[in-house]
Amino acid sequence: MADGFHGKTVLIPGGGRGIGYAAGAMMARGGAKVALADVVGDRAQEAAASLKDETGAETLGIACDITDMEQVKHMVAKTETALGPVNVMVNTAAIVADKTFMESTPDDWKEMLDICLYGSMNVIHAVLPGMVERANGRIVCLASDAARTGQARHSYYAAAKGGVIALVKSIAQEVGRNGVTLNVVSPGATDTELRQGREKEVLAAIGKERFAKREQAILRMYPTRRLGQPDDIAEGIVYLCGDGASWVTGQVLSINGGFAMV
Ligand SMILES: NC(=O)c1ccc[n+]([C@@H]2O[C@H](COP(=O)([O-])OP(=O)(O)OC[C@H]3O[C@@H](n4cnc5c(N)ncnc54)[C@H](O)[C@@H]3O)[C@@H](O)[C@H]2O)c1
Repeated sequence: MADGFHGKTVLIPGGGRGIGYAAGAMMARGGAKVALADVVGDRAQEAAASLKDETGAETLGIACDITDMEQVKHMVAKTETALGPVNVMVNTAAIVADKTFMESTPDDWKEMLDICLYGSMNVIHAVLPGMVERANGRIVCLASDAARTGQARHSYYAAAKGGVIALVKSIAQEVGRNGVTLNVVSPGATDTELRQGREKEVLAAIGKERFAKREQAILRMYPTRRLGQPDDIAEGIVYLCGDGASWVTGQVLSINGGFAMV
């Protein structure tokens, strides 16, 4: 499926691990040059080195906090100097929170919106003019089914991701005529370090017995009776970034084992 990325430059903010790394690896196997950026700089460097070992592709690791526009501009410039103009940008950088709205504080909301919503604006704003000028570009942002259905204990995460969906649809209307597509991939529960970290906290809070029951209850919500793997999500991202998806824009693709059918 990833064939057809030969000579393309792919930039993945948040690509130091998880879904972003998996998408980068698939496109690298299809011939892409891949820049992985992450707020954890060492993680980005190590990820780029293992991606190169795994696939033989040209790769680059960049330290970048997507909440800081200057760092974002530097990330794009560094990618273009090393690997050429960005053809594909996939934004997977995010945090998650597990609190009721009443437990949360304005600082929690601000941090979430800064990373998930303003971060998406920053990275799109930085790559879009070049893509429009070259009349060629693919942008995919990651949201969450929490934004589509609502989810208790995820109110401000869901709100930020809902903002990402509205942002992407609106920009897609502005630049479709310029050969640039923007879409959203909306995963269900996917077994990455992001989720594993959150689950460890839940286990510590509720104990083994309740945790095991909770895990069973979660799986029953998925008709496919399993969690997603990073490659399940990467397959959809890669489709939307490929030449075959040139008439797909402004769409939200849920990849969620049937959890929500929206
Ligand atoms: N894993 C899931 O169950 C799940 C479910 C729904 C949606 N998603 C979404 O999918 C995307 C990828 O999730 P994942 O599970 O691979 O996460 P992950 O935590 O494994 O990877 C995300 C990476 O983003 C980086 N990051 C965080 N803040 C950053 C910042 N300010 N600047 C740059 N990098 C930053 C992190 O350091 C991390 O390496 C996210 O947008 C997430 O919201 C994940």
